[in-house]
Amino acid sequence: MTQYAVISDMKTHTKRSPVGPLVRATFAIVDPMLTVGMPPSVTADTGMDAFAHCVEAMTAVQRNPMSDILAERGISLVMQYLPKAVKDGKDIEARTQMSFAAMLGGYAFNDSNTHLGHAVGHTLGSMYHIPHGNACSASLPEILECEAEAVPEAVEQIAKAMGLRVKKGAAPADVGKQVSEALAKFMASIGQKTLKQLNVPETDLAKVAEVAGGPGLAMSSARKVDKDDVLTILKKAHVR
Ligand SMILES: [Fe+2]
Repeated sequence: MTQYAVISDMKTHTKRSPVGPLVRATFAIVDPMLTVGMPPSVTADTGMDAFAHCVEAMTAVQRNPMSDILAERGISLVMQYLPKAVKDGKDIEARTQMSFAAMLGGYAFNDSNTHLGHAVGHTLGSMYHIPHGNACSASLPEILECEAEAVPEAVEQIAKAMGLRVKKGAAPADVGKQVSEALAKFMASIGQKTLKQLNVPETDLAKVAEVAGGPGLAMSSARKVDKDDVLTILKKAHVR
């Protein structure tokens, strides 16, 4: 669905993303029936990848009204149907809605971009061979909390799409915290692993931040961040 591909370099343990119209498929078949056999962990990982595409598209510098609409719907669908698809892989309604959500997420970040979730995700994935979706989601609650100061209206839209009640006039930091806590709870409920559970050692976090916070996807974050900010995010996520 997108003009991005990811290639792992097994020698350098890095992932690179070629991008452009020639990468995009001419024709795509999105058939939920093909996802029925995915085990619960792969269902949760891929579902959270779709969620990350949506929320990162909404908090990227390239965000726009089109990507917002696509992403908001994608977020709502993931919140509603991912737990069902994880619980019962043969739930065709849940599989269908998740396939649609994944497609919307693809359209959303193709029109905007991903940023810190995927910068961290690609780094963790290439260093420890952690499944892409879980690698991207592992620090997503803390990333959204960090973005709330830069794009409060976007994080409030995310909260609403997640079905959260936001107090009128709530401070951006409080909305960010609310989204972060609700997301961490949601992820735990579908078996997504935390950085600690993924066996990422605390002593490696600076190395991860060095790569993830460098030139590349991190530059698309609406909140301008450097390697130290990424390290702060990772340390917070590690004690969750
Ligand atoms: Fe992804």
